[in-house]
Amino acid sequence: MKKKIGVKILGTGSYFPEKVLTNLDLEKIVDTSDEWISARTGIKERRVSEKNEPTSELAFRASVEAFKFANILPKQVDMIIVATITPDMFFPSTACFLQRKLNIPSVPAFDLSASCSGFIYGISVAKAFIESGLYKKILLVGADELTKITDWTDRNTCVLFGDGAGAMVLSASHENDDILSVFLGADGSYSNLLFLPAGGTFNPATVDTVNERLHTVKMYGKEVFRVAVPKMVFAAEKALEFSGKKLEDVKLFIPHQANMRIIMAVAKKIGISIDKVFVNIHKTGNVSSATTITALDEAIKSGRLKSGDIVELVAFGGGFTWGASVIRI
Ligand code: COA
Repeated sequence: MKKKIGVKILGTGSYFPEKVLTNLDLEKIVDTSDEWISARTGIKERRVSEKNEPTSELAFRASVEAFKFANILPKQVDMIIVATITPDMFFPSTACFLQRKLNIPSVPAFDLSASCSGFIYGISVAKAFIESGLYKKILLVGADELTKITDWTDRNTCVLFGDGAGAMVLSASHENDDILSVFLGADGSYSNLLFLPAGGTFNPATVDTVNERLHTVKMYGKEVFRVAVPKMVFAAEKALEFSGKKLEDVKLFIPHQANMRIIMAVAKKIGISIDKVFVNIHKTGNVSSATTITALDEAIKSGRLKSGDIVELVAFGGGFTWGASVIRI
């Protein structure tokens, strides 16, 4: 019988822009306080990209790190996937801009849109392509610049977001199978709770849409919070069940970094102790598609994880979308 093709994680990388925007800086922009932001979200500061630093640039820097770690050359990958909701342009895809920056010859490259769950969706797509035997080495990136679609006059949202990118190189393997499970979900009936109203075909850009700030994120935070917790718990439990592992086997739980109170509530409901939960939201804010992969990269590079450890990633985002994956690093 033909042996099943497994997936090996060859390496990870991440990148955050240099510029730091602290809560104290935000106090000068909107009617808010460090105390309110810290207590309600856990965020202390976030990174903000420069005007001439598009999403593909962050993706490029994170990918270079991942290739270094994986000890392979960019030209060895045969597919590029970028999970993002803040592409450089509507088209071509950010994956194509990244391909150009990495000087990778003609391999398929495309973007994937699943909001903050984008990287988990990406893991699922990469796994399926590799297991099918069609592709052998995939560069998967989660990259977003939410600060470029933020309304800096809206204190309900502008304190939450940051910019960043994370990358993972995955390879076909006959010895390893590092993606133990993936579970995905979505419910479009919630699409009116977290969205960017204009610029698409529903509401094309006009002077009015710009003046009305319709090219920035609109969010009903309380409702998002209410749905996020049970969906993340459900996804995490399903992915764990499908992986055949037990909660005790999980060395580190890496939740989407959107709000410290969501993270605490999810951890409590799952029954995982907080010392096994990775948190870096205080210094990043919500970096959307990039949260789980940048957190994973930091956990690996800081020595918190070692080879063979079992990790669970879980995310939730606009759509609503959600997803979780149990992996071995
Ligand atoms: N600074 C100071 N006050 C603020 C504020 C800010 N940055 N943002 C909101 N407020 C005020 C509100 O105006 C409101 O005032 P009011 O009672 O006078 O009307 C008060 O604080 C409470 O607002 P509320 O919306 O009830 O706060 P909250 O506890 O729900 O926290 C969020 C707000 C946005 C932090 C929280 O709802 C949240 O994190 N939701 C999920 C968002 C998310 O994760 N999105 C991404 C998902 S991928």
